[in-house]
Amino acid sequence: MASFKLMNAILIVLAILSSSTFCSAYPGFSFGWGHGGGGGVSRPIGGLRFSGLSPGFYSQSCPQANDIVMSVLKTAISKDPRMAASLLRFHFHDCFVQGCDASVLLDDHPTFASEKKSGPNKNSLRGFEVIDQIKAKLEQACPETVSCADILALAARGSTFLSGGPNWELPLGRRDSKKASLNGSNNNIPPPNSTIQNLVKFFKRQGLNEVDLVSLSGAHTLGMARCTTFKQRLYNQNGNNQPDSTLERSYYHDLKAVCPKTGGDNNISPLDLASPVTFDNTYFKLIMSGKGLLTSDQVLLSGNLGTPMQLVKDFADDRMLFFNRFARSMVKMGNIRLLTGNKGEVRKNCRRVN
Ligand code: HEM
Ligand SMILES: *[C@@H]1O[C@H](CO)[C@@H](O)[C@H](O)[C@H]1NC(C)=O
Ligand SMILES: *[C@@H]1O[C@H](CO)[C@@H](O)[C@H](O)[C@H]1NC(C)=O
Repeated sequence: MASFKLMNAILIVLAILSSSTFCSAYPGFSFGWGHGGGGGVSRPIGGLRFSGLSPGFYSQSCPQANDIVMSVLKTAISKDPRMAASLLRFHFHDCFVQGCDASVLLDDHPTFASEKKSGPNKNSLRGFEVIDQIKAKLEQACPETVSCADILALAARGSTFLSGGPNWELPLGRRDSKKASLNGSNNNIPPPNSTIQNLVKFFKRQGLNEVDLVSLSGAHTLGMARCTTFKQRLYNQNGNNQPDSTLERSYYHDLKAVCPKTGGDNNISPLDLASPVTFDNTYFKLIMSGKGLLTSDQVLLSGNLGTPMQLVKDFADDRMLFFNRFARSMVKMGNIRLLTGNKGEVRKNCRRVN
């Protein structure tokens, strides 16, 4: 708790001292955090406009929404620090499939199959119970008001902040879908052995560019991955029974101990081996030294595309630059193909259509 206060103090001081764009990720720093925010500037980050959403969407109908989310998050993350990572990832797996409409939370239904069974999600996504808890509390406080899609966005932001990362003003007002897309989940979330060209393609399909790709990949400063997602790199990266040559030697040996050639598929390893529960820029420093865990992490530095490589270097050098870009790209990702107005619905239970 003391460290969160310290973090606040540091960020506020930086915001006051600096009028540069580096810290403009915090224009509405005190918004919705129960700190009695006076100086919040209600301007979207980077001056971008997001039609249909607004940070004050629940200011009349459920002013305590973010406080409720934060209190559940604090309890869940203090019990299990990895939960912050898992909840951050949720918003990504939601937004890349049919847009940010909480389709990822739906169970099987007679007319559609749940996304929970897809390759990227099965035995992998975690934190459904935390979302259920948040939803139950919100239904008590403000029935049928806060959408599950907004809960995922709020949980992603809160988890980032509670792990030492940036806070940002979050546009709200998403509505929930009435269906899920198992096929969409299997086909739109990039696989961990993607080339840089493929990563760019998957992101472009969502209206996201190379800056968004590198910035959002920085979410891998938190959390763990299963052996099955990086085994190819250790034993047969290019079909020649050789390890990935971009993998740093000692790290390669450490990973083999966690992830044997046969079996151990569910053993886990940190995506950021230096600080897996702290949101910082060490992920980029590690990539610089050949210690990115997934192929998709390490290829940001290689390949023939100049922009991602330069950004990895910039972010490794400048934590605030990374925080600012991350916040911006999260807002952008949170704006993918939304249901707003009277489209979709506000689910009463995130697992089922009403
Ligand atoms: C660039 C393409 C990406 C690929 C290929 C990718 C792939 C993966 C894989 C394979 C895992 C491990 C899953 C498991 O073993 O169960 C993982 C974990 C994770 N991903 Fe990504 N990811 C990508 C982008 C993102 C983005 C955009 C975010 C969020 C903004 C994100 C957040 C996370 C987090 C926080 C974890 C750790 C989850 C946990 O510990 O529960 N990833 N990712
Ligand atoms: C599955 O998803 C892919 C990618 O979005 C799409 O091209 C394909 O048409 C979909 N297939 C079905 C059966 O919906
Ligand atoms: C990625 O992994 C999948 C599944 O294991 C495999 O079919 C595919 O060939 C791999 N792609 C690359 C580029 O190695």
